[in-house]
Amino acid sequence: MRRVKTLGLLGTGVIGGGWAARALHFGIDVVAADVKPEMEGWIRGAVANAEGALSRLTFAPLPRKGTLSFTTDLNGMARQVDFIQENIPEQLELKQRVLADVSRHAPADVVIASSTSGLMPSDLQRHMQAPERFLVAHPFNPVYLLPLVELVGGAKTSDAAVEGAARFFTAIGMHPLRVRKEIPGHLTDRLQEALWREILHLVNDGVATTGELDESIIYGPGLRWAAMGTNLIYHLAGGETGMRHMLRQFGPCLKWPWTKLEAPELTEGLIDRMVEGTQEQAAGRSIRELERLRDDYLVAIQQVLKQFNIGAGATLRAVEQRLYEENASGAQVATGAESASGLRSCEIVVRPEWIDYNGHMTDSRYLQVFGDATDALLRSVGVDDAYRRSGKALYTVESHVTHGVEAKALEPVYVVTRLLGVDDKRVHLFHALHRRRDDALVATGEQMYLHVDTSAGKAALMDSAVREKLEKIRVAQAGLAPPPQQGRAVGMPPSSGAQRR
Ligand SMILES: NC(=O)c1ccc[n+]([C@@H]2O[C@H](COP(=O)([O-])OP(=O)(O)OC[C@H]3O[C@@H](n4cnc5c(N)ncnc54)[C@H](O)[C@@H]3O)[C@@H](O)[C@H]2O)c1
Repeated sequence: MRRVKTLGLLGTGVIGGGWAARALHFGIDVVAADVKPEMEGWIRGAVANAEGALSRLTFAPLPRKGTLSFTTDLNGMARQVDFIQENIPEQLELKQRVLADVSRHAPADVVIASSTSGLMPSDLQRHMQAPERFLVAHPFNPVYLLPLVELVGGAKTSDAAVEGAARFFTAIGMHPLRVRKEIPGHLTDRLQEALWREILHLVNDGVATTGELDESIIYGPGLRWAAMGTNLIYHLAGGETGMRHMLRQFGPCLKWPWTKLEAPELTEGLIDRMVEGTQEQAAGRSIRELERLRDDYLVAIQQVLKQFNIGAGATLRAVEQRLYEENASGAQVATGAESASGLRSCEIVVRPEWIDYNGHMTDSRYLQVFGDATDALLRSVGVDDAYRRSGKALYTVESHVTHGVEAKALEPVYVVTRLLGVDDKRVHLFHALHRRRDDALVATGEQMYLHVDTSAGKAALMDSAVREKLEKIRVAQAGLAPPPQQGRAVGMPPSSGAQRR
């Protein structure tokens, strides 16, 4: 499978819009195709709406955002992209026809995946050209925030297509779950539907309202599910003997059974109860308002889970790790001409939420950017996760920031880092943050780092290999004039009011 630089979308509704936002955010260009020309405005709006929450998901240095274009020429789209994700309505014949058409225009090494919620891949690939490159890749709404994507191959799907797709989805921050066997509804929708069927029965039988049933989840099992799922949680519920005891204790109830397999008839009365119940729960809030609330807590939950390296938080942590590594390897190598004038250690765009009430980047973010620049430099000389796991790290002991021209939201900026000094335990760095459009100096950051033994909590000698690489950079830059801001202290000049008083 080719390296994916451009993603093609077939169908640009709710799910197509979500795919576009996610891919663009991770630096992939998107060509969105839909039969309705008016969907162009819709998908651009959907991408803009997703931007706020997505930009808070991680502060790791992201690649430059991808570009979005729109077309009603589906086959034209298929000829110019590296991967196609289909998101048209859930109708077997329509999907079969469109997938067959598009497969005649997409080169054979372009993987084609379907977002179908429950159709079988073997049915969908039936009339396609090169059907071995087809699979189901089922995402979850909102696609730009939920990492899960179920990958399901059909009878003709090759392992290479599934592996290639898994690599691509991982690169855009997702958790690909390979489904071993195709079944209607895949895995997650089977589970979701079982729960929903029970909800419909309980509302239909007048046992509970939609709000009460949501309470039964959100104050209890829902909190457990996000990190451990049902099975591991039940293993805990069985006490010391875990799942075995749990099954012995509750096995008999499974036979009673508590639940029903057939969904109830969707009568007008039941539909009214479901609609009225959820409207009452919405309490006058619009869908957009509720979506914003959902997006904000989905971001917050993933950040909390990241601290425990569990579930979606582990996915986020792995993505960040990779982004930091890519940023470090993208930083110019620490020898030769580039490092003689300073190392371009970080290239980013000023995020909208970094802006203060004056309309420019706020104080704390300068330290964050300089921290990322330090991280890139240190990773390039071997201070990486493995180094830290071995109980060694560099801690910041002093920082001094000076400010120059303004940096506004979405302004592309870069950092040039100079190594002013290094000895066995200390690294002295100087960062200069510039605007890309005119190279004007936005800020400088001078920082001293101390090498520590993290388990002893004491300063310690750094590894000789790291020390040697840092020394090489220092020597390469030794001929440069000292930056005018170096060693500057904050203070009023003698003629200021402080003196006169
Ligand atoms: N909505 C969800 O929560 C969800 C979640 C996961 C998967 N899915 C699956 O994703 C797919 C799309 O669902 P959605 O909710 O985005 O639907 P949607 O109705 O919002 O969007 C479908 C889009 O496809 C376009 N379209 C229709 N016929 C087309 C054609 N022949 N060629 C190109 N475009 C065409 C429509 O104009 C529309 O913009 C379905 O298969 C669905 O099962 C949906």
